[in-house]
Amino acid sequence: MIDTMDMQITKVKRSKIKDLDFENLPFGKYFSDHMLEADYVNGEWQNVSIKPYQPIMFEPSLVALHYGQAIFEGIKAYKNPAGEAFIFRPYDNFKRFNLSAERMQMPVIPEEIFIEGMRTLIDIDKDWIPAKEDYSLYIRPVMFATDTAIGVKPSETYKFLILLSPTGPYYAQPMKIYVEEKYTRAAPGGVGFAKNAGNYGGSMYATAIAKKQGYDQVLWTDCLEHKWLHEVGTMNIFFIIGNKAITPSLDEGTILDGVTRSSAMTILEELGFTVEERRINIDEVIEAYKKGTLTEVFGTGTAATISPIKELKYKDFVMEFDTNGWKTAPQVKKILTEIREGKREDKYGWLFKV
Ligand code: COI
Repeated sequence: MIDTMDMQITKVKRSKIKDLDFENLPFGKYFSDHMLEADYVNGEWQNVSIKPYQPIMFEPSLVALHYGQAIFEGIKAYKNPAGEAFIFRPYDNFKRFNLSAERMQMPVIPEEIFIEGMRTLIDIDKDWIPAKEDYSLYIRPVMFATDTAIGVKPSETYKFLILLSPTGPYYAQPMKIYVEEKYTRAAPGGVGFAKNAGNYGGSMYATAIAKKQGYDQVLWTDCLEHKWLHEVGTMNIFFIIGNKAITPSLDEGTILDGVTRSSAMTILEELGFTVEERRINIDEVIEAYKKGTLTEVFGTGTAATISPIKELKYKDFVMEFDTNGWKTAPQVKKILTEIREGKREDKYGWLFKV
């Protein structure tokens, strides 16, 4: 087991922070001064270090590039009005990271490195946490296979990194979503529940086609009937139908167990909704839309936070929503933001102090 006290820390000679325009931070474009790095060699994690953010050199035969043993996470850190730094629900991401690792036949990472390493890194770069509303420090843990060989087998060596990116909102505007009925993101027994890089690579073709038709993302459906709803490119999905908040269930292992999804479910219950995690198909959504009981549709994600959907298209049927009049999604977002920014009581213990 690595003791974080053994972590080697090398700080930058000159910080880049003065070059950053904190008022204008596109998602994931800028990186803080430092990163965390660790190597899995000879069956154990070692060389845990925090060092200046920098390029890494590899041989072209790197296993991660050829066979996709690569997983990641998305987490956010915020500051409260007193300027103290907090990470939002990092243990949930830690657990999910290790589930992804197991599914991709990769080694699990110890808490000391993932959680304590992250805390130390953020403590060093805490000035990079933006204070502006809807802005945060996006944390990107990533692990990938580093053997250099072209035979298909699990790598024996891996690298783990944590990068920090001060960032603004991922989707600034209400979204237009295309219900996908040809391509498939995940099937039962597959890797849909894991946050492996290939799930995102595999989504880009269908998304590009939807974008050509003026849509921002696709809503994935099941692989057999293309009717049962899964998740949107970078978010889980919620439907407000009457007094129910319905979100697709996790049991088939085809969607991501989102941390923002779980937070939204708790807040929706607090707001008096009956939250249903279950299979939901597009016919039910269309029927509720036609009856006028489907009032709001929104996505949830670490990057996306709570993103209203103003248009949902299935075949030739277009469902349009006037998001300006919505009450629920903005309220969930407000409560979540206030908890994250330390402006509302953290009664669920979601904040982890740096
Ligand atoms: C996140 O919400 O953190 C994600 O990882 C989605 C996307 C940016 C890949």
